[in-house]
This record gives sequence, structure tokens and C-alpha cells, in this order.
Amino acid sequence: MNTQIIKVDPEHPDIEQIRIAAKILREGGLVAFPTETVYGLGGDAEDAGASKAIYAAKGRPSDNPLIVHICDYSQLVKISSSLPPEAKKLSDAFWPGPMTLIVNKNDVIPHETTGGLDTVAVRFPSHPVANALIRESGCMIAAPSANTSGRPSPTKAEHVIHDLSGKIDAIIDGGPVQIGLESTIVDLTEDVPTILRPGYINKEMLESVVGEVRIDPGILGKENVHVRPKAPGMRYKHYAPKGNLKIVSGDQDKVIAEINRLAEEGENDGKKVGIIATEETKRFYKRGKVISIGDRTDEYEIAHNLFDVLRQMDEYGAELIYSEEFSTPKIGNAIMNRLLKAAAHQVIEV
Ligand code: TXA
Ligand code: MG
Repeated sequence: MNTQIIKVDPEHPDIEQIRIAAKILREGGLVAFPTETVYGLGGDAEDAGASKAIYAAKGRPSDNPLIVHICDYSQLVKISSSLPPEAKKLSDAFWPGPMTLIVNKNDVIPHETTGGLDTVAVRFPSHPVANALIRESGCMIAAPSANTSGRPSPTKAEHVIHDLSGKIDAIIDGGPVQIGLESTIVDLTEDVPTILRPGYINKEMLESVVGEVRIDPGILGKENVHVRPKAPGMRYKHYAPKGNLKIVSGDQDKVIAEINRLAEEGENDGKKVGIIATEETKRFYKRGKVISIGDRTDEYEIAHNLFDVLRQMDEYGAELIYSEEFSTPKIGNAIMNRLLKAAAHQVIEV
């Protein structure tokens, strides 16, 4: 299949270009498009065939449900069987934006889109291109992240082209995304709103609107690896670079010393070594391919660069990858959630 690349200005997309992509969606085709979080791979959410094609293109297990992207609150009402009061409060506060709500579904969205579940994940993105595409197509758009299943989510059109070129009808290139981590998923089908995947909208922000919020114990890290995460996608190994990634945790000086030691050991074994460092620390590493993920004090920059850095490690062909830890105040949870998964929870404490 020839994949059409449609280049647009992310802030003011040319409506004629958007209409080309919208028509593809209406006819059951697949279009990747930028959102403020990561690129999505879109198909008509009401079309079971389009959803099946999304799973096939990504190589994604068909029990892992898709997120339905909307451009108006009324569409959430249209596809849910009942809405708790938190739905309106949270959407008033954070939509359009990087938050996904899980609600009970009615029959409008087929089970092919929701991986067989009776609940549906819904998001109203803020990106002008995503918005224009939903509006012009007249479809609600089912869209997982536009990566091959298991690989880091795409934060640039080049990542999507690398993974999906030849497998989908079109890719809208709107440049790099803003946030770089997938949306916060909030489950509203339990008695207390529960975070199934951490993101830019953090627990405190949610609590300021609806009071008590829980975090799914299944995503809380090492001590809880035996607890099954509720979001099917959080159960799989994910975001993984091809090399063996380990996180080194502890005081900065000790971390640097240990990474230098491991890098030397790896190179002496004839291995290609990659190091994920920061602007503050990169000059202290003497061996391997050192990639800075950004300024240690700028957690939004770290989030923005994370998936791209993991992909750069693959391009370099790193076999062993050592990363510092990024437990920053606001979205450190969300960053470390991705990094820990990428490292299959291998942490070296120093
Ligand atoms: O930021 C985002 O959310 C991006 C952009 C494209 O919007 N999308 C995204 O989609 O990250 P995806 O498919 O890569 O991740 C969706 C996650 C998966 O972990 C999936 O299991 C979970 O949402 N999910 C979807 N529907 C669900 C449901 N009904 N119940 C529980 N988890 C659900
Ligand atoms: Mg994904």
C-alpha cells in the first residue's frame, strides 16, 4: 500500500489537506495524525472493519481496546450508557486536553473498537489538527498510538513513517507533538475515579476537581508487579528499545560512577553501550553513546524527549542501555512509569 504523507501547519492546518484525510477515514481507511500527546493511528470508531485494520497495522493484540477521539462533549453522551457526575466536571476542567475517560458504553461503538469490553475510553484532544480531522470527517476516531505494538509511542511524523509506512493510507505530518507522553487515563466506572495510566494531568490536578482519586495498584511498580493492571495495554511489555535497558538509581555521583563502570564493562565485552543522561550530567560520561534527555529541572522537556531518545538508542544499535532516573515533582510518575516499563523494571540501586 502506498502511504500518502500530508504535511500541514500544526497550528493552522490547511482545511483542503485535512479534507483529503477526512475522506479516507469516511471510506474506512486509516490515517495517522498528531495529537498534543503522541501521534494516533485513526479509523472510524463506529466501523468494526476499520478497528480490525488498526489492530492489523500495529500488530496489536485485539483484546487491547482503542481510545475514541471526539470533538464535542455531546459525543461522549452519545456513546455512553450512563455518565457519573465526575464526567462533566473532569471534562469541563481538562477537555480539550490530554485526559481519557473510561465510561460504560452503549451500542454505538462496536466491541471490535473496545477490545470486547462493555466500557469505552474517550478523549477530546486539543491539537488543532486532531480537532479539524474529527470535525471534517464527521467520524469519532478510534486511535491508539501510531507505533508498531511494543515500540515507543511516536512523537514525530518520522517515527510513524518508520513504523507504519506501507501499512496505512495516510500520515498527517504536523511536526513534533507537544507533550510526548500518552494521555492520563481515568476510569469512571468504579466507585472512586481511578488512574489507569499516569500522564500530564496528574492525581493532584484531578483531585482538585473531583476530590478523592485512586491509582490503579497494578501500575504502582515493582512491589505490585503481581497485581494485574486494569487497562489491558498496561499489562504488556511496552515502549521497549531493542537493547537491554537498565535504570540506575541513587545519589547523582554514585549513579554516574556506576554507569561509567557498567559502560566500560560492556564495551570491554564488545557491546554497543548507550547512556541516557541529562544536560547536567552528560559531560561526566566517558564511554558509549551518550544522549541527553534534557535539562534535569525541566520535567516537561524530559517527557517530550523520552520516546525519541529510546528510538535513537535503537538507531544507534545500542545493546546495553543505562539510564538515570527522573522522579520529578509533577509528572515524574508518568515519566518513570514509561521508563520502568521500557526497562522491564530492571533497576540498579546504588
Ligand atoms: O494520548 C493518548 O491517549 C494517545 C493519543 C493517540 O490519543 N492514545 C493512546 O492509545 O495512547 P493507546 O491505544 O496506545 O493506549 C490506550 C490505552 C491502552 O492501555 C488500553 O488498554 C487502554 O487505553 N484502554 C482503552 N480502552 C479501555 C477500557 N475500556 N478500559 C480500560 N483500559 C482501556
Ligand atoms: Mg500505545
